[in-house]
Amino acid sequence: MNIITVDNYSEMSKTAAQLVEQQLSENRESVLGLATGSTPLGLYEQMIKGHKERGISYQKVQTLNLDEYRGPGKTHPNSYYTFMCEKLFNQLDIPLENVHLPDGIAQPVEEECRRYEALFDRIGPPHLQILGMGTNGHIGFNEPGTSEHSLTHCVKLEESTRANNARFFTSAEEVPTHAITLGIASILKSGKILLLASGQKKAKAVKRLLDQEISEAFPASFLWKHPNVTLIVDREAYQLVQ
Ligand code: F6R
Repeated sequence: MNIITVDNYSEMSKTAAQLVEQQLSENRESVLGLATGSTPLGLYEQMIKGHKERGISYQKVQTLNLDEYRGPGKTHPNSYYTFMCEKLFNQLDIPLENVHLPDGIAQPVEEECRRYEALFDRIGPPHLQILGMGTNGHIGFNEPGTSEHSLTHCVKLEESTRANNARFFTSAEEVPTHAITLGIASILKSGKILLLASGQKKAKAVKRLLDQEISEAFPASFLWKHPNVTLIVDREAYQLVQ
């Protein structure tokens, strides 16, 4: 694992954006794996800035998101599709037919999981996968206890994860109880992985990751099995490591 330590969130986001732009300069038809949550928002702002100020084009890019809540349909304000459109896609030149997320209302859910995994393999796997990490070590919505062999599946979210995500909703009860997520094995298919961690809240998780004990109890530890992972971590998130 290549570790880049930076001062703060802003530096983390700029450094990540440089790596995304480098990927696009090598291949303007790159497939990007994307995450939601707070961590990548600064990166997405930098990508938008790069597009508007320096003409970085996403016209030929395809994106595959990690996960989607079960319940809210695509156009619902609480869906990850809506989140991604608002925070990124609507402000780039990427055609919306090039962006892909699981469908949160498709039935039966097992069939939707199979469809998304097949799509992930056909369009992707991503050349570059962006990841955040939960305080319990989840990646995507692969909570502790998830097998390293898992593919796209439907999960029951841990209460801690629902509580962490409640800030995006008007009330905590509104946070869906289930989500569809790429599995650990799906994520590890990506060519390169860029893991971002910022803030004191992530310090224990970063320390545990860097302890290198690979276990289902801490899903992000499976990233040690991938040959090309870069962790960009800021000072607060790194504080327990030195
Ligand atoms: C989101 C995702 C999650 C988040 C994680 C961290 O698509 O896959 O694994 O990356 O919950 O969330 P934040 O960034 O809000 O701390």
